[in-house]
Amino acid sequence: MPSPPDSTRVRRPVSVRRFRAVDDAPGSIAVAGFVRAALPSAPARVLEVGAGAGELAEALTQAGYDVLAIDPAAQTPHVRAVPLHELEVSAASFDAAVAVVSLHHLEPLEESCRRLSELVRPGGVLVIDEFDVARFDERAARWLIDARGESLAVEHRDPEVLIAELRHHLHTLDDIRKALDERFTVGEPVRGPYLYRWGVPAGLREPEEELIATGGLPATGARLVGRRR
Ligand SMILES: C[S@@+](CC[C@H](N)C(=O)[O-])C[C@H]1O[C@@H](n2cnc3c(N)ncnc32)[C@H](O)[C@@H]1O
Repeated sequence: MPSPPDSTRVRRPVSVRRFRAVDDAPGSIAVAGFVRAALPSAPARVLEVGAGAGELAEALTQAGYDVLAIDPAAQTPHVRAVPLHELEVSAASFDAAVAVVSLHHLEPLEESCRRLSELVRPGGVLVIDEFDVARFDERAARWLIDARGESLAVEHRDPEVLIAELRHHLHTLDDIRKALDERFTVGEPVRGPYLYRWGVPAGLREPEEELIATGGLPATGARLVGRRR
């Protein structure tokens, strides 16, 4: 279809353009939308746990939030290189915390979640986007291995090996919820697709969702919102 003339061209809303930085990876706009919808309105002070390269933190900053992004593997100046349990800032200094597929990596899990509860003020919001390794079964492993092809290391192309390795290294969603339970009230997870975001070619969200709908794949993604008591 040809583009409309300039005078009638549909402009992207400001909020979407601000998330341009996280627009490239499959699913990133959906994640940013979920996070924005769950956060209190800007301005608010937000801690991002496991921020990776800091794209979401940057987008939130552009949207008016005061963000501290942390990640022990940080390689960019705007993400502080520290694990959650060692973060030294004043107690109750955040209105909200965001964690996008990072809580399953936290070590030690209980101590890290306790630290998180000290940092978020009572009444503050916790926004969680997760992968639930307990649901990653042989069907999911086969789908991922096929979708990833040669981008997956040879030793991970065996479903049993891949499942065993992930279960060995990652916390389940149940374990994460138990660790948060002491001081956060966390809502029930909204389950959905996740594999399409895991280094696979673009365009696989719908096929994954169709398979979840027909029982061909487990829903390995989970989104939760909690509140600090
Ligand atoms: C799967 S990556 C997700 C990165 C980013 N949130 C994203 O969506 O692209 C998980 C991140 O959690 C970080 N991480 C691991 N242990 C952590 C800890 N104890 N405290 C904070 N972040 C941690 C890792 O270094 C890694 O960058």
